[in-house]
Amino acid sequence: MRLAVLGGSFNPVHIGHLFLAGELLHGQGYDRVLLVPAYQSPFKLEANIGPSSRDRLDMLLASITGDERLSVEDCEIRREGISYTIDTLRDIIRRYQPEGKPGLVIGDDLAEGFLSWKDSSGILDIAEIIIARRNGTEAKSRPFPCRQLENEIMDISSGLVRERIKAGAAWEYLVPAGARIIIEDRSLYREASGSPAAGDPEITKDFLVRIEEEARRRLSPGRFLHSRNTALLARDLAERWSQTPAAAWLAGMGHDICKSMKDGELLELARKDGMAISAFEEKKASLLHGRAAAVFLRERFGIEREDVLEAIRVHTAGEPGMGPLARILYIADKIEVGREKIDPALRKLVLEKDLEEVFPAVLEQTVSWLRARHIDLLKETLDLLKSAREGMKHEEKQG
Ligand SMILES: [Fe+2]
Ligand SMILES: [Fe+2]
Repeated sequence: MRLAVLGGSFNPVHIGHLFLAGELLHGQGYDRVLLVPAYQSPFKLEANIGPSSRDRLDMLLASITGDERLSVEDCEIRREGISYTIDTLRDIIRRYQPEGKPGLVIGDDLAEGFLSWKDSSGILDIAEIIIARRNGTEAKSRPFPCRQLENEIMDISSGLVRERIKAGAAWEYLVPAGARIIIEDRSLYREASGSPAAGDPEITKDFLVRIEEEARRRLSPGRFLHSRNTALLARDLAERWSQTPAAAWLAGMGHDICKSMKDGELLELARKDGMAISAFEEKKASLLHGRAAAVFLRERFGIEREDVLEAIRVHTAGEPGMGPLARILYIADKIEVGREKIDPALRKLVLEKDLEEVFPAVLEQTVSWLRARHIDLLKETLDLLKSAREGMKHEEKQG
């Protein structure tokens, strides 16, 4: 198999990327193109706000299905941190064992600086450099061996796609259908995802960015991604169910912010909220991560909104009488897109029904999930379940 390697941010992947991959498969002697999304390109340190690496990877995977000549290689994302081309190439050669030197596609804008890349001579030893035209510049001779691709230039870039989504302009057919569905599902690139403060004068965009940075710093990548997904879903649900979207986003981003703390730290923070700590919680301090987070965010960031603090405080076990924002966070935490094994019927319900119907359904499912794993339910959860079931019965009688 003759392999060509096409790296990039793919933020998001667009038809120009796939078109270029197609050009490599016609008349260039390659029979497979490996698309390699960068975790964080050394050339383009992206702003912190934006889709996660996982989002970019998912969009790529969804875009190439059905074409066996294309594959996605996620080694740079798995490696995390800055990846160098030489390491990626060595890794790919070792695992894919291609026939001959793999082709490495470089845009002509980056070719200028190629000789300053880490171990550029090593790269030249193991790969064939293919220069792709990007901006309509004239092909020129280069001070290193390479092949110039006479590719057709499509006037499209990821930046253009992002701008058009943000501006509400037509963008749908600039990206492959699979990527489009993910962008829509996860509300990527919308103005609101970076600045969910619209409509709420108390919570500014800068403030939300600070909370997001704090969460990113404190949590593992997986936990951070979960927080981000929860924030986005909570915001959307809040919009639909007439709550403050920015408050819901804040609750989602902050709800697990203490999740990586040691038991001692959790207990110390939780004690400050003035409520009792049971012997069980004393033993299993991780159960207090919601209470600890509410105290932490109030003390450290001055958050005083009672609905946000309540939502964060009770998100693990729930409690009878919890308010609408707390119920929204509870739902979002349990069913955000990253959660595996969510009953698809439940996700459908969330799209179709209102908060009064969705919340008890999510609660029931969470409880049966816990019971199936023989996890003891907390008293608050049992009380909540009882009141939710009574509420349902009451409604049935009325209706
Ligand atoms: Fe949690
Ligand atoms: Fe969570």
